[in-house]
Amino acid sequence: MLYQGSSHPCHTFQLRMKQTAREVRTLLMGIITKREKAIQSGEATRDDLLGLLLESNMREMGQNEKSNSSLGMTIDEVIEECKLFYFAGQETTSVLLTWTLVVLSMHPEWQEMAREEVLQHFGRQNPDFDGLSRLKIMSMILYEVLRLYSPVIVLSRQTYKTMQLGDIAIPPGVLLGLPILLIHHDPVIWGPDATEFKPSRFSEGISKATKNGQQAFFPFGWGPRICIGQNFALLEAKMGLSMILQHFKFELSERYQHAPYPVLTVHPQHGAPFKFHRL
Ligand code: HEM
Repeated sequence: MLYQGSSHPCHTFQLRMKQTAREVRTLLMGIITKREKAIQSGEATRDDLLGLLLESNMREMGQNEKSNSSLGMTIDEVIEECKLFYFAGQETTSVLLTWTLVVLSMHPEWQEMAREEVLQHFGRQNPDFDGLSRLKIMSMILYEVLRLYSPVIVLSRQTYKTMQLGDIAIPPGVLLGLPILLIHHDPVIWGPDATEFKPSRFSEGISKATKNGQQAFFPFGWGPRICIGQNFALLEAKMGLSMILQHFKFELSERYQHAPYPVLTVHPQHGAPFKFHRL
């Protein structure tokens, strides 16, 4: 097929990407400048992340103005932080919940156990923080889903100087990948049932879930850059799942096709249609 000028699909795609990036930037600029003005006139709330970020940044800039240094974030950096928190927090937690509903539909006995636990703790009342932290079966289920369907597939790093890794010297500029999903499915680490959904492997905590007590569970990364939102994400997932279990029984629709598909996070390629039955 012959493409002329700007009609090549890659070109159209790039144009759309640029257009979307511009739209997102304009939207965020609007939100940020409105909030900055509100903070300056003393009428802003400080009970959300953007408020805290802007307030601390303005304080930092104010102090640095006096000392003539240039610390503090630029507006572009604030925009990037907003985008990072939105993507890192929204997409990952939503696929975690989706896969949890999928596997609990495939394993109705676990769906029933999870529901019993939720009803025992909360009845039909809204779940509270203390109760959510004590949901043992639900934690085991969420860990097992995070193991099998890790939303983040691989961690990437680039060396900026020569680094020694065991016996290997890695020169600067090398891209390294830690394949989370692969490690989470390794039968040498997890046993011959590594690809099966068995939440009970986490019944005595994370360190006892692997065959030799190796640290091989990284859904939130590890080390200094470990996910800043991991506790929040688990709490959010437990809250959402508890409320669904309290009010609905669910099963997969006949249209569902099991096709995990990596597009930055692991998605169900053809969606996840469910049937919900009110309890
Ligand atoms: C199931 C949900 C989540 C998963 C699986 C997940 C996974 C991860 C992973 C693997 C990393 C490390 C990336 C790396 O080392 O290169 C990370 C970093 C990060 N996550 Fe999450 N995340 C989740 C939810 C959230 C939520 C809810 C938030 C915010 C509210 C969040 C904010 C962040 C941020 C800001 C970073 C970067 C931290 C840094 O570089 O210091 N994440 N996440």
